[in-house]
Amino acid sequence: MKPAAIFPVLLVASSSANAKKIFCNEGTTESWDLAQVEHNGYLHETTDVYFDRPPALVAGYNIAQFIAPFDSSCDSYMPTTMMWMVGSQLFTRTKHGSVCNQTIVEYPLDVDVTAGDWHRVIIGASWQASTTGFLKVWYDGKKVLDEQDIPTTVTETEQFQFRIGLYANGWYDDRTRQPPEGIYEVFYDKIAIATTKDEASPDTWKRKPISCRRLTR
Ligand SMILES: *[C@@H]1O[C@H](CO)[C@@H](O)[C@H](O)[C@H]1NC(C)=O
Repeated sequence: MKPAAIFPVLLVASSSANAKKIFCNEGTTESWDLAQVEHNGYLHETTDVYFDRPPALVAGYNIAQFIAPFDSSCDSYMPTTMMWMVGSQLFTRTKHGSVCNQTIVEYPLDVDVTAGDWHRVIIGASWQASTTGFLKVWYDGKKVLDEQDIPTTVTETEQFQFRIGLYANGWYDDRTRQPPEGIYEVFYDKIAIATTKDEASPDTWKRKPISCRRLTR
């Protein structure tokens, strides 16, 4: 996956005499008609990734999340743990407390997500609202997160869904504007919920396919 950034667009006017910039922005958060940041999306300036000189605008991608519908005046569909990317870095998080008083703890993962390669992500979680839970992440076979004795979910007991997809939060809500140059794709394969890490591991599927079935309530 390419790093997220917004690149300049060259507009060519019909006559050079009429040439003017209809709109220009050099990678700042100012001067846009609308910067809609919704839900877990965000928009900020970065000096690390840019076209010809800093800054640039960076958009984050959420690529997987646990979410549940809450019948609450504070939130309806609310995600808790997510996996998301900023550039080539992967992050995860926990959310605890309650729907109306949420505490989010973010965990940057020391991994480098490279485009054009398959990567294996395994989440090991004990979902607990008290400090008896854990959250572990293995990335390409290496344990990159091992948080023990932490709350990993909210006190409400709604059943969560696990969702994957390219949540291109940075531009999704403004459908009239083109996304940044390029095609952004994430491929998924071998998605499982299992009781052991070995069952979930895509590597073991090659040898012995696990029996996939619909989850029943
Ligand atoms: C919200 O949660 C925090 C941390 O758990 C707690 O200190 C605070 O009292 C809570 N606020 C309310 C209004 O319940």
